[in-house]
Amino acid sequence: MQELSSLVEQALAEVAECAGLAALDEVRVRWLGKKGTLTEQLKSLGGLPAAERPAAGQRINDAKARVQEAIEARREALTREEIERALAAGRIDVTLPGRGERRGGLHPVTKARLRIEALFQRAGFDVATGPEIEDDFHNFEALNFPPNHPARAMHDTFYFPDGKLLRTHTSPVQIRAMLERGAPLAVVAPGRVYRCDSDMTHSPMFHQIEGLKVGEAVSFANLKAMLHGFLQAFFEQDLAMRLRPSYFPFTEPSAEVDMSCVFCGGEGCRTCKHTGWLEIAGCGMVHPNVLMASGIDAERYSGYAFGMGIDRLAMLRYGVNDLRLFFENDLRFLEQFRTL
Ligand code: PHE
Repeated sequence: MQELSSLVEQALAEVAECAGLAALDEVRVRWLGKKGTLTEQLKSLGGLPAAERPAAGQRINDAKARVQEAIEARREALTREEIERALAAGRIDVTLPGRGERRGGLHPVTKARLRIEALFQRAGFDVATGPEIEDDFHNFEALNFPPNHPARAMHDTFYFPDGKLLRTHTSPVQIRAMLERGAPLAVVAPGRVYRCDSDMTHSPMFHQIEGLKVGEAVSFANLKAMLHGFLQAFFEQDLAMRLRPSYFPFTEPSAEVDMSCVFCGGEGCRTCKHTGWLEIAGCGMVHPNVLMASGIDAERYSGYAFGMGIDRLAMLRYGVNDLRLFFENDLRFLEQFRTL
């Protein structure tokens, strides 16, 4: 009896002293494990007279239970302490000054595109898109470029080994839109286009926006009015516009669109090469062959189309004199457009 209670005292003291969960587990094994000191006591029961065994066994089990309880209580306390220590270590001081994020902004070409889209959407046009990797059918054939037609040479095309190509203009979206939607329709289709061409004013990748309106009585006069209205709204200026005869396989008649110079108002300056005019778009009435290739009844419907360079519109609106600035991603340049 005496010995058992002093063993329990000793075990409880050791439990109380444990500073960590690992140490506590060692103490548990030492006292209550298979070969633990208290467990060993049970083995000595065999040496007692049979009558005393039940009472002695009971006492040993009670002693074990007391130690077990103490260990559980200590384990709980240690676990709580550990959690609190982890929480304290990981605490975030929300009063510290932040590291700071620098404010971004939209790229000027994106700003110009969104502005153009919004103006045409107000005039009833949907925004349509098409793939940058095109096939010969959509980029050329359906647009009335016969095989080996010299007009194909005007587009310095990037070809893939399988015959696919990087679209040289946004006009293939005309075909896709007509095939998908049928007539009547009015869409603008902005996007990247590619030509094997690179210098001061040409980048191998640039941006165009295509316009297409097909309906029962769509006229050349409608085209002229729409473009003139758009240019005045985009530049917020009272500009003059003129059309010069031109040629595209997919429009007939075709025209180049000039507007009076936004910098000199037509007086003549460096930007307009002292002509007073800036070339800004190509346009025309959709060729019947193009309507037919797109499944549209060319007897019943007519349409106009136009294509403009978004980069050029952005340069003119924001007064940027070198196209390459748009593609170098120099933050000193881009940051100037954050609030525009
Ligand atoms: N796709 C022509 C080009 O890239 C522009 C254009 C579009 C002309 C629509 C007429 C009609 O040069």
